Amino acid sequence: MSDPKRILSGMQPTNERLHLGNYEGALRNWVELQEIYKLYCCVVDWHALTTMADDPAQIARNSKEIAKDYIAAGIDPAKSTVFIQSHVKEHAELHLIFSMITPLGWLERVPTYKEKQQTVGTEREAYGLLGYPVLQAADILLYKPYGVPVGRDQAPHLELSREIGRRFNRLYGEVFPEFANIIPEDELRAKVPGLDADDDGRLRKMSKSYDNCIYLSDTADETAAKIKGAFTTPTKMRKTDPGVPEGCAVCQLLRLYSPNWQIQWEEDRQGIRGCMQNKSEFIEVLNEHLRPIRERRAAIGDADIDAILRKGAQEAREFAAQTMDEVRLAMHFV
Ligand code: TRP
Repeated sequence: MSDPKRILSGMQPTNERLHLGNYEGALRNWVELQEIYKLYCCVVDWHALTTMADDPAQIARNSKEIAKDYIAAGIDPAKSTVFIQSHVKEHAELHLIFSMITPLGWLERVPTYKEKQQTVGTEREAYGLLGYPVLQAADILLYKPYGVPVGRDQAPHLELSREIGRRFNRLYGEVFPEFANIIPEDELRAKVPGLDADDDGRLRKMSKSYDNCIYLSDTADETAAKIKGAFTTPTKMRKTDPGVPEGCAVCQLLRLYSPNWQIQWEEDRQGIRGCMQNKSEFIEVLNEHLRPIRERRAAIGDADIDAILRKGAQEAREFAAQTMDEVRLAMHFV
């Protein structure tokens, strides 16, 4: 039997829809990788419970929409396995076993833990928040992947997953091979700025919490309206005033999407063009870029996504169940 190299990645369904930042920072890379590897592409709904336990119905709704965004972005369900974490119970079983061999100190040292602890608030902090990376280790190691494509921010989680795998192997026998980090080569694209600026006039990343996003599922008109209201050089009141493209959200986005961005920047700087021209040219290129994604998304019905996710869960379970057989055998739980 041929054994293609597997890779696995996932996103939390904490938002209703995926935005341009999610697409450029991760999805676009997955779409390319699925041509080379067997991609397992997961919506990690149990992970979303670490911050949204008060609204599981919302998590369930988000999960389906995000799966639709995966497909719309070009994940091909005939090549890749698209599934929802909670549909494959093996993730929970392996998480439980890993939770027994992971020292607390390892988890307390994870940088994202401290940040999330503050957002959630001490009184409301659940046991599951500390265990977040243990569940992620289970997600990954169940599929014995060759690599995991993620942003740099996930490096500590991946290192911890490796440590947990090594510890399991040392205690019970070799089950989990090492895996690589697959970091997108194009770091510039991975940092998509939002449409606004902070109180000090500095650009910040695209994020739902700042309400500065363009969603893959926005219509062309919604996209145009958002871009028309975007942050540009505040001192450029007239077309002839000099622009500062480095500090202008629209210019930064043009750099990512427009083949002519260098000319556009120079004309902006010299006061040969105004912000409105930048905006209308950006609307044009971005809507063109998103058109195939939107067309694919509009064609996916609820029944279609249910079928894709059912098939995905079956495929994922098939592999995960084999790994769990090996895990139980190694631990004499047979
Ligand atoms: N922690 C990841 C994030 O916030 C999501 C995630 C959960 C994940 N399990 C995973 C990513 C397994 C890659 C592989 O982005």
